[in-house]
Amino acid sequence: MDEIIIEGGARLKGEVRISGSKNAALPILASTILASGTSTIYNVPDLIDIETMGKLLNHLGAKVDIETERVNVDTTNIKNPEAPYELVKTMRASVLVLCPLVARMGEANVSLPGGCAIGARPINLHLMGLEKMGAKVEIEHGYVKVTAKRLKGARIYLDIPTVTGTENLMMAATLADGTTIIENAACEPEISDLAESLKKMGARIEGAGENIITIEGVDNLKPVNYSVIPDRIEAGTFMVAGAITKGSIKLKDCIPEHFDAVMAKMKETGVEITEEDGGLRVKGVKSPKAVDLKTMPYPGFPTDMQAQMMALMTIAEGMSVITETIFENRFMHVAELRRMGADIKVEGNTAIVHGVPYLSGAPLMATDLRASASLIIAGLAAKGKTTLSRAYHIDRGYEKIEEKLSALGARIKRERE
Ligand code: EPU
Repeated sequence: MDEIIIEGGARLKGEVRISGSKNAALPILASTILASGTSTIYNVPDLIDIETMGKLLNHLGAKVDIETERVNVDTTNIKNPEAPYELVKTMRASVLVLCPLVARMGEANVSLPGGCAIGARPINLHLMGLEKMGAKVEIEHGYVKVTAKRLKGARIYLDIPTVTGTENLMMAATLADGTTIIENAACEPEISDLAESLKKMGARIEGAGENIITIEGVDNLKPVNYSVIPDRIEAGTFMVAGAITKGSIKLKDCIPEHFDAVMAKMKETGVEITEEDGGLRVKGVKSPKAVDLKTMPYPGFPTDMQAQMMALMTIAEGMSVITETIFENRFMHVAELRRMGADIKVEGNTAIVHGVPYLSGAPLMATDLRASASLIIAGLAAKGKTTLSRAYHIDRGYEKIEEKLSALGARIKRERE
C-alpha cells in the first residue's frame, strides 16, 4: 500500500489543470449501456473508481478501452445483467448500472451496496422509483433483482434529492413507455452533464439541473461521443490548498459557477479569488477568518468539500461552526486533524473548530476520499512531516494529486508502505 509523505510549509504557486469530474464520468459511463454500439467519453479522469466502472462494464459484457482522458465502451454484447458484490463493495457508484440494465435488458441483478465509512447510504429511493415505473423489485441474498418488460413513465417524488438516485431514474425513464416526472430531483451539475450526454444519445429530457425533471421515453438511443465537465470538487480542493499555504495559484479548465458556494465561503475567509485569462486565481491571506458553514444539496455548500474546508478552519482566526446535513458520519477526519493539534469538538452533526496558530505534522490514516484530501491539505500547512497511509483512498477521486501538488511547489511524495 502506498503512503503520501508531506513536508509542510511550502507556499503553493503556479497553475494547475482541473481534471474531468469523477461524479459526472461515472454515470455517463454507466449510461452507455442504454445504447448498443461504441460510445467514446472524453475528459475522463485517471482514477481507481473509473477503473472499477470499466471492470464492471466489462463484466456485463461490454468491451472497455481506457486511454488517457478517453474511454471507449462497446456495449454491443452486453448480456449479463449482474453487478457482483466484489465490485459493488469497492465502489457504491456501481449501483448506477442498475437502471440502464433494466431499461436495456428488462432485468438487473445488482449487489446491494452496504453502508460505508461516511454513512448508511441506502438506495430505497432508487428502488421506489423503479417500482413506480412498473418494475418488480426483489431483494434476496444481498442482491436486488429488478425485472420489467418495459418500464412505464411515472410521477416520482424523491423524499431526499438523491444524486445517484436522480441519475439512475433519469436513465431508466429515457427508454420507458411515456412520460416520467421526477420531483424534488437533485440539481447537481453532474446531473445536468449526464442529461446533456443522454440528449446527445437521443433522449428527451427537460429540466435537468432543476428540481423537476421531465423525461419523454423514446424507443431506442444511439451511442455517443461526449466530453465530461471539469471536477468542481477537485477545483475546490486545490482552492483550499492554495489558501491554507498562503500561496497564489491559478486553476485552469474549471467552471466557476459550479462551485459558487465554495467560492463565497472562501471569500468570506478573506481569500482573494479573481478570474484570470479563462482561469481562476486564488490568493491566500496571512490570517484567514473563521466562517460557519452547513452542507446542503446543490447549490448549497457541498458535503464533498466539508472536510477540506475544515482543514482550513483549523488554522483560521476565530471559531467556526460546521454542520454536516447530508451524511451521518462524515467527520472521520476530525480525530486525525486533532492529532495534528487542531482544536475541534463534535456534537452530533456539528463540529466546532477553534483556530490554532499552527498544525504540526503527524502520521495519519486516510479513512475515505474527502477525509484524505482534508488531511493532505492540513499536511501542506503543518510544521514538519506528515505521513498519510492508505493512500488508495485518495486515488479513488484525485488524479495524480501528488504530481499536481509537487508542480505547484509542495514537498510531497509517494512511497510504498
Ligand atoms: N439517501 C437515502 N435513500 C436513497 C438515496 C440516498 O436515504 O435511496 C440518503 C443518503 O443516505 C444520504 C443522502 O440521501 O444521506 C444523500 O445521498 P445521495 O444519494 O445524494 O448520495 P450519492 O448519490 O450516494 C453522490 C456522490 C457523493 C456525494 C453525494 C452528495 C457520486 C458517485 N457520489 O452520492 O460523492 O457526496 O452524492 O453530494 O456521485 C465523493 O465523491 O466523495 C462522494 C461521496
